[in-house]
Amino acid sequence: MVKIGDRTRRVIARDKKVFLTTTREVYPFVADHGNGDFVYDFEGNKFLDFSSFISVYNLGVNGTPEIRKAVIEQAGKLMHSAFTDYYAELPVEFAENLLKLMPSGFGKMFLSNSGTEANEAAIKFSKLFTDRQYLMAFYNAFHGRSTGSLALTASKTVQREHFGPFSDTVHVPYAYCYRCPLKQTYPDCGFACIDYIKKYPLSKEVSGKEIAAFVFEPIQGEGGYVVPPMDYFKEIKKLADDYGMLLIDDEVQAGYMRTGKFLALDNFGIKADIYTMAKAVGGGMPLGVTVTSTSLGDIPSGSHATTFGGNLVSIAAANASIKYILSNKQKISREVVQKGALMMKRLVQMKEDYEIIGDVRGIGLMIGVELVKDKKSKVPAVKEREGILNNLFQSGMLVLPAGESSIRLIPPLTISYENLEKGMDLFESAIAKASKRNGMPR
Ligand SMILES: Cc1ncc(COP(=O)(O)O)c(C=O)c1O
Repeated sequence: MVKIGDRTRRVIARDKKVFLTTTREVYPFVADHGNGDFVYDFEGNKFLDFSSFISVYNLGVNGTPEIRKAVIEQAGKLMHSAFTDYYAELPVEFAENLLKLMPSGFGKMFLSNSGTEANEAAIKFSKLFTDRQYLMAFYNAFHGRSTGSLALTASKTVQREHFGPFSDTVHVPYAYCYRCPLKQTYPDCGFACIDYIKKYPLSKEVSGKEIAAFVFEPIQGEGGYVVPPMDYFKEIKKLADDYGMLLIDDEVQAGYMRTGKFLALDNFGIKADIYTMAKAVGGGMPLGVTVTSTSLGDIPSGSHATTFGGNLVSIAAANASIKYILSNKQKISREVVQKGALMMKRLVQMKEDYEIIGDVRGIGLMIGVELVKDKKSKVPAVKEREGILNNLFQSGMLVLPAGESSIRLIPPLTISYENLEKGMDLFESAIAKASKRNGMPR
């Protein structure tokens, strides 16, 4: 049982005094140090990590020994190389390594510092390449919080209110089949949600010929870990091709082997024109990457840049991480699939056993569990989720929410099988306690 002491309470009180905003409302975890599957606070509490620290530590908490060594060595040599104006070898090596994992036909990239910046670059490039002004994105999507990417984001109104108007993006329904916005059932629906896009937004709002790009997450992350049907993106690509729109695939949360493949979109059998990455690609350091198809060509010099893009310490971490992936890709991929299947087996059984679990979905180690008051009404179990996350924290396990009432289960890809089972035992016990506490049938 986790014990919260005075020092934790004091740090949280000091934090609240000096920081303007936070989304940290779930449980009072103060990180101190960590390694592999575990992280520790400074009160001596130990936590099993099932959050990968928001999908960043895909190779274990605080990265691998090679990543840490590369960071320390590079910090001793040169941290910042003014990569917008001067050349450096390490970012070139990193880019060459990353391209080995990208689909064929991808040869150029832009380096920034975060997911939102990777998407800002993608937005600008798509407008430049097509000479069009509008964008298309999904409801429930999360692409970042700077004003360009925020125009694409439509997962919670609190993220957008006061910051508009956002005029360049048309939002359309995603294939959230558990709660189909059109009240249809897959596959009988025949993708009515895609017909809707053609019939309404594209016929009545903005001509498809004015849309530069359709931006999407292959699996919606912040919006609730929503996985569309496996043939969905083939239909989206057909639609984009019909109107000459580019496809921008935001792999910030779903990418970097999380689903067993380097890019989550590879599970769906199509290629995008532009890919964006961040989170895990930096190996624990800040990094955003925007990779474009070679066929799109170049952008005019000076039309986009950022001072810290290509920061050598970040790139040292990213390069060590990508080299680890290149050397261990088959093993990681095989284990992600196996571990994901083990988790799914347990979760599908829990869904049978507990009324509170409405839906379980995911690919590889990107798994979402949607909680409901009861399976028939599907009313989101929002308060109950808070109780479950707190209970897990009290039992020494870190898990994050997603969407209105979902929980994301995203352990490091390198988690041991023993700790994976342990995590699933703790999760089941928290679900059982919440069901009992709220008088829900088992
Ligand atoms: C899919 C996706 N895109 C973009 C972002 C924004 O990334 P960042 O917080 O690094 O700006 C996030 C962050 O959660 C994300 O999940």
